[in-house]
Amino acid sequence: MVTPSRQPARRVVIASSHPLFGQGLRNLLKERHATGVEVVGMVTNLEEAISALERLSPDLIIVDYDDQALNRDEFLARFVEGEKKLRVVLLSLQSAGEAIIYDRRTLAASQIDDWLDEWTRAWPREQSQIEEPAAGQKRLLFKGGRSFFDQDRTKPNNQNRRTDMKHLVIAALLVLAVTALLIVGLDQVRLLPVSASAQAEPIDALFRLEFRVIAFLFSLIVVFMLYSIIVFRRKKGDDTDAVHIEGNSRLEVIWTVAPLLTVLYFAYLGGQSLAETVRPEPRPLEVNVIGTQWSWRFEYPEYGFASTELVLPVNKQALLHLSSTDVIHSFWVPEFRVKQDALPGGEEFIRDLRITPTIEGDYKVRCAELCGIQHAYMLADVRVLSQDEFEVWVAESSGVSDDPVERGRVWAEQYGCLACHSVDGTPLVGPTWLGVYGSQETLADGTTVTVDDAYLHESIVEPGAKIVQGFPNVMPENIADQMTEEQIQDIIAFIQSLR
Ligand code: CUA
Repeated sequence: MVTPSRQPARRVVIASSHPLFGQGLRNLLKERHATGVEVVGMVTNLEEAISALERLSPDLIIVDYDDQALNRDEFLARFVEGEKKLRVVLLSLQSAGEAIIYDRRTLAASQIDDWLDEWTRAWPREQSQIEEPAAGQKRLLFKGGRSFFDQDRTKPNNQNRRTDMKHLVIAALLVLAVTALLIVGLDQVRLLPVSASAQAEPIDALFRLEFRVIAFLFSLIVVFMLYSIIVFRRKKGDDTDAVHIEGNSRLEVIWTVAPLLTVLYFAYLGGQSLAETVRPEPRPLEVNVIGTQWSWRFEYPEYGFASTELVLPVNKQALLHLSSTDVIHSFWVPEFRVKQDALPGGEEFIRDLRITPTIEGDYKVRCAELCGIQHAYMLADVRVLSQDEFEVWVAESSGVSDDPVERGRVWAEQYGCLACHSVDGTPLVGPTWLGVYGSQETLADGTTVTVDDAYLHESIVEPGAKIVQGFPNVMPENIADQMTEEQIQDIIAFIQSLR
């Protein structure tokens, strides 16, 4: 029965064809490790070793590294990689008595005794008996899956610990310093445009906090990495392999749980910020925002008119109802931070967005969803005015002109016609309107047609019916559904005026 307090002596077989090597080592072990190590056999070749393995079941074979008569590769193949795994130490008396353990770790001569001592105490017979290394100890992994604890034996224990602590303190201070530098530096850089809405506040606050945490994480990783690379780099003339270190449960638990808690905390903050951006204020200004390839239209149902620019009074919440007449667009004013897709599909796909502008000024709404060839130019002006200026603008905009040409120009702009049809002769996606009225156009099928009221009307109501040669059939089929017959007539009058 093995009692936990006292383990039986380690059984060692020595393999060497030189009697002096075996006898000398045996005496040395006996002298130094009277109770821990028992030399149970001496063998001179592989066959004897195999037979000794059967009879004596040793824990360790020490092989004379310099013995030409022994094939040490065979020993390794047999006992290390073979099915009956065994610890093998290659011991060389040359080159100042190095012991080469089969994973090619090299010990100094002065360390061999300590290693054997350590091994006899710390190498348990069963895997389950392998203990966790104490703080400050490194754990060595052998290919056989067993390990023992290793330290720099040339220094006393507490000195090792003190050195480790010194490195840790220096690295920690460096992490703090780099974090502080990064945070100060990031504050100097304007990462975001001016924050011009109440909804931007919680978003920016979260953004700032996240950047601070990211600065810390970046420092943590980079400082420890560079510190290790520089301070623990290979010393000149040292060509030994590095120490194998395997596992540290406490550290692994910490670096799993800490990020998990951080991410959960940020999820909570994210939820709070989101709730803050959609919080309604009493009696907001309602605006229907309609995206069309490739323009924006803003309807003010309270005042009964529409506009191609979004004009909002300062410090009053605007409730935008976003929709699209064709494909998905996305409403985005970077200074307001919030962003929302405008979806086609009618009533049930209308999406709301709340914006409370806080700074008077000019902004741009840009489409943030790839929506076709003119996507990049799908911009509209946004103006934030004082309440008084806003009311003046409303009064000016409410009056509908009694000139059909002027009205047609307004509709053509508001319904997005001018995103594709120029009025100055430039060919865009569609034919220019300049001089088109009354002209002869060649159609895709080769026939010609005279551009008159009937043709224009058909082209608006049923765009695919007659396609002018050289232009793609991309005009929205349902564009006329949003207009009244009067508005269509006004647009025709406007085109007629461009002769
Ligand atoms: Cu609309 Cu991109």
